[in-house]
Amino acid sequence: MVRKYTDKEITYRHLISVEGVMRSLARHFGEDEQRWGYAGLFHDLDYDRTADDFDRHTEPALEWLREEGYSDEGVLNAIVAHKDPRYRTDLMSRAIVHADAIAGLLVASALVRPEKAAGMKVSSVKKKLKEKSFAPGVEREEIREVEDKIGIPMDDFIAISIGGLQEIAEEIELA
Ligand SMILES: [Fe+2]
Repeated sequence: MVRKYTDKEITYRHLISVEGVMRSLARHFGEDEQRWGYAGLFHDLDYDRTADDFDRHTEPALEWLREEGYSDEGVLNAIVAHKDPRYRTDLMSRAIVHADAIAGLLVASALVRPEKAAGMKVSSVKKKLKEKSFAPGVEREEIREVEDKIGIPMDDFIAISIGGLQEIAEEIELA
C-alpha cells in the first residue's frame, strides 16, 4: 500500500522508519505493536500528493485507507494527530509526534555513517540533535519534550528508537 500511494523513495523510507520506531515504543509501553506500527507506516501516506497543499495533508490518506477497508479509528486518529494537536487524545496519538521526529534524525544520522544503523549510540544521536545545521527539517523540540509528553526520559526514548530503526534497517537499505 505504501508503494501504491507514494512516489518518492525518501517518503517510503520515512514511513518504514516511523513504523519501526512506533513498534519499538509500543513494546516498551506494552501496547499493541501492530496498531502502533500501522499508525507510523501510514501517517504520511499522502505526503507525496499533498506537498503543495499542506492543509489537506492526512485527508487523502484517511480516504484511501477507508477505501482499502482499513477501519481502525484509533489508528486513523493517530494519523491525523501527527499533524493536528487536537487529536492527540491517547498515548499512541501523542507518541507518533515524537516517533516522527526521532525517525527523521535517526535516518539522517544513519545515512552519514559507514555502518549505517548498526552500532548507533545514544550519545552520537544527541550530538546530532545539538547540531542545528544537521537535518534542519527535524523538529528538535518534539524530541526534547518527549519525557513531558509521553513520560519516557529522552535517553531511553532515543535508545528505544534506535532499536526500532535497526529492526527495519534492512528494508530501507540502512543495515
Ligand atoms: Fe512523518
